[in-house]
Amino acid sequence: MGSGVRTDPAAGVTGWAPGRAASPRAPRWFGDGPREALPPVRRTRHAGPGRPPGVAGRRTGYGQDRAGRTHRGFHRGGTSLADGALMTDGPDGRSVIVTGGGSGIGRATALAFAAQGDRVVVADLDGAAADAVVIEAVRAGGTATAVPGDLSEQAVVERVTATAVGRFGGVDVLVNNAGIMDSMSALGDVDDAEWERVIRVNLTAPFLLTRAVLPHMLAAGHGVVVNTASEAALRGSAAGAAYTASKHGVVGLTRSLAVTYRGNGIRANAVCPGGTATGIAVAADPTAHGPSALAPHFVNLGRVARPEEQAAVILFLASQAASHINGAILPVDDGWSAV
Ligand SMILES: NC(=O)c1ccc[n+]([C@@H]2O[C@H](COP(=O)([O-])OP(=O)(O)OC[C@H]3O[C@@H](n4cnc5c(N)ncnc54)[C@H](O)[C@@H]3O)[C@@H](O)[C@H]2O)c1
Repeated sequence: MGSGVRTDPAAGVTGWAPGRAASPRAPRWFGDGPREALPPVRRTRHAGPGRPPGVAGRRTGYGQDRAGRTHRGFHRGGTSLADGALMTDGPDGRSVIVTGGGSGIGRATALAFAAQGDRVVVADLDGAAADAVVIEAVRAGGTATAVPGDLSEQAVVERVTATAVGRFGGVDVLVNNAGIMDSMSALGDVDDAEWERVIRVNLTAPFLLTRAVLPHMLAAGHGVVVNTASEAALRGSAAGAAYTASKHGVVGLTRSLAVTYRGNGIRANAVCPGGTATGIAVAADPTAHGPSALAPHFVNLGRVARPEEQAAVILFLASQAASHINGAILPVDDGWSAV
């Protein structure tokens, strides 16, 4: 930490120095809308992709402390334990929530946002996994904090939202990514418990969290939501009845959100991953009708993606480069949906 740096742990800000350059990392963006109207900050020679028209170089950015004061030129602060997880304060960038951030696509997404200077709330049922991702992000120089819990519970949703708002000054980007598979069962074999759990985690949880962050996005006049749907959102042959219905529901949620809030500076899009190498558990029930009926359709799967390949598309949709993409349902599946 350089000289002249103010340390104010009580305010959750560990060393900010207005006017100082942010860390020399990749370009970062601040969502759509009003923040574009903030006064210009330092310009650098960088002229990377996504730069707003008419701006000569990249902005080194703004950050907000917990009191909502906007500072420019944040630089990296120290680390501290907060909300039961390791967290750094300081760098500028957007406030981003990634659900299911402890594993697979969510983990890759959280790390990628943190690497480009955004401040990330890693929300996951598996608290230890979320903590591990936060530690990895912080070690790489990023800012992140973990919130453990089941996102299908309203209390957890409120904790996630309060953490993003209280620690990071709002919610610029929400990535509803947490999800679970079903047993690949056909409709006739799905019991009530499986149906309710899959719908609750895959569909109700994104609804609850989006509803919770919306007032903050509306107040800010901008926000981006990216939902992780699935190939199973596009066809009936990629999973069982419960998962397929839940992911089709995510598409509806995304489109409704995109249309109804497009006048408010809020965009919503969904990615539809094909097969991706993650920790997601698929406990296919061999006695059920589904697995044998579905098996022939998997010949068209294509190459299995790395989680980072899904994360890259999520980051793109959340970026200013995608400022006119709203309501898109984007397959990221090596052409599986094109077959
Ligand atoms: N991996 C694939 O092939 C694939 C394909 C299409 C869609 N998807 C979707 O991608 C998303 C991410 O899955 P993944 O493959 O990275 O799986 P993953 O199991 O590696 O990661 C999912 C994470 O979500 C968390 N989670 C599960 N239920 C939760 C809950 N109730 N509250 C909070 N967190 C919860 C898990 O703890 C886990 O860390 C899911 O929505 C999944 O449906 C995955």
